[in-house]
Amino acid sequence: MEIVKKNEYELNNLEKAGLQTLLKSAFPDCLSSRIYFKQLPHFRLIGSIENTIIGQVGVDHRVISLNGNSKSIFGIIDLCVDSAHKRKGLAEEMILEIESLAKENKIDFIVLFADDQRLYHRLGFQSVSNRCKWLGIDEHKTVGIIQDSLADCMMIKKTGNSEWQNEDVDMLGYLF
Ligand SMILES: CC(C)(COP(=O)(O)OP(=O)(O)OC[C@H]1O[C@@H](n2cnc3c(N)ncnc32)[C@H](O)[C@@H]1OP(=O)(O)O)[C@@H](O)C(=O)NCCC(=O)NCCS
Repeated sequence: MEIVKKNEYELNNLEKAGLQTLLKSAFPDCLSSRIYFKQLPHFRLIGSIENTIIGQVGVDHRVISLNGNSKSIFGIIDLCVDSAHKRKGLAEEMILEIESLAKENKIDFIVLFADDQRLYHRLGFQSVSNRCKWLGIDEHKTVGIIQDSLADCMMIKKTGNSEWQNEDVDMLGYLF
């Protein structure tokens, strides 16, 4: 099994097809003919065995505003592992690789949104309850600016020198 990092623009048709098959089975209600839900990620980690893709995670690299101060983040998008290969630590390995990349490159925080938080708690992520503002996108349409607390699903992990504060967050973009 190998994990490779790929910029989104570098994906070839074979990789796109493999990702589509994986994503469609992992998120049957959300993803049909696309390999992204709302917007393209900047890069992905792709896990494969003998050229068959068995796991993936997208990463959005951006700046958010935390209490008026800009913070760099890696946003985790659509983490999934093929059912035949679950519970062998692949998701954990991919998240740890993203964490290493974030630390090496002085990214302030990793941010994600998840209903089931078991894996992330185990990997040291903390749940946060900031009031957030973001750009609503639905099926390739901008639907406005949304403000809400995402206390039931928002999680962060510090990877740089900044401390997280329980203050207003402007995502400066869509919610990945
Ligand atoms: C979540 C998922 C990526 C985990 O992949 P994995 O390679 O099996 O993960 P690991 O082997 O590193 O860790 C397994 C642990 O993750 C936790 N876990 C299982 N499903 C999870 C989920 N949907 N969300 C968060 N954590 C989960 C469990 O604690 C599990 O251990 P356990 O079964 O012994 O209790 C995989 O189950 C999956 O693709 N689920 C469907 C898509 C999905 O829900 N993605 C998360 C979006 S936020």
